[in-house]
Amino acid sequence: MINEGITAAAAGTWKLGGQTIHRMGFGSMRLTVNPDPAVAVRVLRRAVELGVDHIDTAAFYRSPGGILAGQAGEQARYATELIREALWPYPKELLIATKVGPGVSPTGEWEAAVTPAQLRRQVEENLRRLRVDRLDVVNLRIVKRPGHDSVAERFAALAAMRDEGLIRHLGLSNVRLDHVLEATAIAPVVCVQNSYAIDIRRDDDLVQACADRGIAFVPFFAIAGPGREDGAGENHDEAVRKVAADHGVTPHQVRLAWTLHQGRNVLAIPGTGSVEHLEENVAAGALRLGRDDLARLSPRGFR
Ligand SMILES: NC(=O)c1ccc[n+]([C@@H]2O[C@H](COP(=O)([O-])OP(=O)(O)OC[C@H]3O[C@@H](n4cnc5c(N)ncnc54)[C@H](OP(=O)(O)O)[C@@H]3O)[C@@H](O)[C@H]2O)c1
Repeated sequence: MINEGITAAAAGTWKLGGQTIHRMGFGSMRLTVNPDPAVAVRVLRRAVELGVDHIDTAAFYRSPGGILAGQAGEQARYATELIREALWPYPKELLIATKVGPGVSPTGEWEAAVTPAQLRRQVEENLRRLRVDRLDVVNLRIVKRPGHDSVAERFAALAAMRDEGLIRHLGLSNVRLDHVLEATAIAPVVCVQNSYAIDIRRDDDLVQACADRGIAFVPFFAIAGPGREDGAGENHDEAVRKVAADHGVTPHQVRLAWTLHQGRNVLAIPGTGSVEHLEENVAAGALRLGRDDLARLSPRGFR
C-alpha cells in the first residue's frame, strides 16, 4: 500500500497540550544519515505536505559519523538545523518536540545533563538551532542509573523554564510510571516517549496508564524494534510478514500500524531519511488491523 492520496490525517488526531495534531508524525533522528542535506530538506517538506504536523527532534541528532556520535565542527549536520532550513518560518500548525538530557558539552564531550545549568544550556541550544523563541515540547530524556533515579530536580528546572516562557509543554522520555507520577506532581506532562514496538513490550501497562491520565505515549523504535539505532532490517517475524501479505502492505507498515492500534493516545514518529519510506509510513496510518490480525501479531494478548 503506497500513498495514493493518503495523508497524515488518516491516522486520526490527538490533542497534545491543547493543540490538535495528527497521530502520524515524523522522527528526525535519521535525517543526518544522508550526506546530502538537500535530501533531508525534501523529506521534511514532503512530510509537511502530507499533513505531518508533529516532528520529533533533539539538538544532539547530528552527523557525520553516525546519528548520535557524530563529531561537531564544520562538517556536522544537525537535524534541528535541517528542520529550520526546510521549514522556517514554521507553519502555525506544526508542533516540534525536542528533548534534553543527552547532549554535547561545550568542550565537545557527550553528557547526560543533570544540573539546571546544563539543562538550560541544552534548551538554549535547541532554541537557537530551531530559531524559535519558545520550544513547543521539551522531553526530559533520562538515562536510568541506580541511585540517580529521581527526575524531580531536573523536571523542576524545566518547569521553571516553562514558567519563564522558553517552553510551552513538557514531556518525559525513557521513563517508568513512577517517574511520570513524580513529574506530574511538579508540572503537567503532555507526553511520554519510550521505546515500544511489537517486539518491545515492557510498556504495555504504561501506555494505558498514560491514556488514563490524558498523556500521549510516543513510541520510538516502532519500526526498528530490537534493531534500535541500527535501524530496521528485513528479518521480520512470520506473523508480521503474513499480516503484511494479507493486506498488501510492507512489514514495516504493519509494525507502524500496530503501534497506532495500541491506544488513541499513541502517536507515531517513524524515522526515515527517504521520501519513499516517509510516504509509506504516512500511508500506514490508513491501515486498519482487524481483531484477527492483532491476535496474530500479539499472541500474548491485545487491547
Ligand atoms: N527519546 C529517545 O531516546 C529516542 C531514541 C531514539 C529515537 N527517538 C526518536 O524516535 C524516532 C523514531 O526512531 P528511529 O528513527 O530510531 O526508529 P524507527 O522509526 O523505528 O525506524 C527507523 C528505521 O526504519 C527504517 N524505515 C523507516 N521507514 C521505513 C519503511 N517504510 N520501510 C523500510 N524501512 C523503513 C529507517 O531506515 P531509512 O532511513 O532507510 O528509511 C530506519 O532504519 C527517531 O527518529 C527520533 O526522533 C527518540
